[in-house]
Amino acid sequence: MAMNTKIIPPPAVIGIMGGGQLGQMLALAARSRGYSIAVLDPGTPCATGPVADYVFTAAYDDLEAAQQLAAISDVLTYEFENIPAPVVAALEAHSYFPQGAQILHISQDRLREKQALEAAGMQTAPYRAVSSGDELRQAAAAVGLPAILKTCQGGYDGKGQHVLNTAADVETLAAGMDTPGRWILEGYVPFSKEMSVIVVRSPADDSQCFPLVANEHRQGILHRTEAGGGWPAGVEEQAQQWARRFAAEHNVVGALAIELFLLADDTIVANEIAPRPHNSGHWTIDGCSISQFEQHIRSLCGLPLAEPVLTQPTVMINLLGQHMECLLAQWAKLPPQAYVHLYGKNEARQGRKMGHINCCGTTLAAAAATADAVETILRMRCCGEEG
Ligand SMILES: Nc1ncnc2c1ncn2[C@@H]1O[C@H](COP(=O)(O)OP(=O)(O)OP(=O)(O)O)[C@@H](O)[C@H]1O
Ligand SMILES: [Mg+2]
Repeated sequence: MAMNTKIIPPPAVIGIMGGGQLGQMLALAARSRGYSIAVLDPGTPCATGPVADYVFTAAYDDLEAAQQLAAISDVLTYEFENIPAPVVAALEAHSYFPQGAQILHISQDRLREKQALEAAGMQTAPYRAVSSGDELRQAAAAVGLPAILKTCQGGYDGKGQHVLNTAADVETLAAGMDTPGRWILEGYVPFSKEMSVIVVRSPADDSQCFPLVANEHRQGILHRTEAGGGWPAGVEEQAQQWARRFAAEHNVVGALAIELFLLADDTIVANEIAPRPHNSGHWTIDGCSISQFEQHIRSLCGLPLAEPVLTQPTVMINLLGQHMECLLAQWAKLPPQAYVHLYGKNEARQGRKMGHINCCGTTLAAAAATADAVETILRMRCCGEEG
């Protein structure tokens, strides 16, 4: 296997499909090692633009533009899940695109995704495919209530989801399902914690996992990630073993995140995957011996992977559009162990990810105390933002 590994030294061009904050942080990690960056994104401007050498402004389904990106790139990667898989497949035929289209094809559809998680030996929520009102009634009887109805494609940050608590909820939704579509009904998992694990796999079949982290969401958007261990015996090992097996079975190259639920009996359930660096891995920039971005670049370029070691417990807080005014007004009041990362996006819309803050400490309790203080300073703890 190792024989087939393509080694890519700087100043080779890394071409990124998707120019959001993930692309920006990948580009920053790669640039500091001497690589050049090309990016394709429909936005004007896009967050990756200012740190890229070449910028292609085009829709993701513009094959000609994607081919131009490929033509100047030595290796290609994507940082966004909704890049059309057929475009990636077309590029893969003639360019070096080790992440590949297959894992994208799976992650773009919740049904395929759940089936793949199960096939790799992971526990999932009970689920049924749904494409009509009658199927919804049958699915609700099979998985039980409460349950969550999700669109198979296109959902993110909790969008395209309905919680069904009662038989009346099922009836209301079933009666309204007159347009053809594809959904998945999942039994509600009574989790005690949400977690995620990130694995990075190399073309030489090496894989390295980052420490398991705890995630807290608000209004469907990640709010806070805590990295600092303290898991019940066996939980982290199980999560990392699932991630390694899944990555190997699907020939993943680069970063892949698995979102998980922890149950009261300390067993775990897999929710979904993201075949790219993940918001819950941003803490690694300040709290780990290697960041998820640098590790992703290493795998793309055929370099041996590093073993990620937590260097300081870190709590990450996402900065959304609504937090920006307060952040800038309170700028000098933030404690020095709160490392602010801003993506340079100019329009601070409600719910838009504008940056994040990594709060570090010598213990997880100290890091969490700093994060609590930051939340108070940024008024994330009042004005209906709690919970
Ligand atoms: N089966 C379930 N049982 C309990 N809670 C769930 C279940 N599925 C989803 N949730 C809750 O809804 C959140 C969003 O769901 P999910 O991650 O599947 O969707 P998403 O919209 O793709 O989000 P993301 O932004 O992570 O892509 C989860 O983080 C979790 O809090
Ligand atoms: Mg999710």
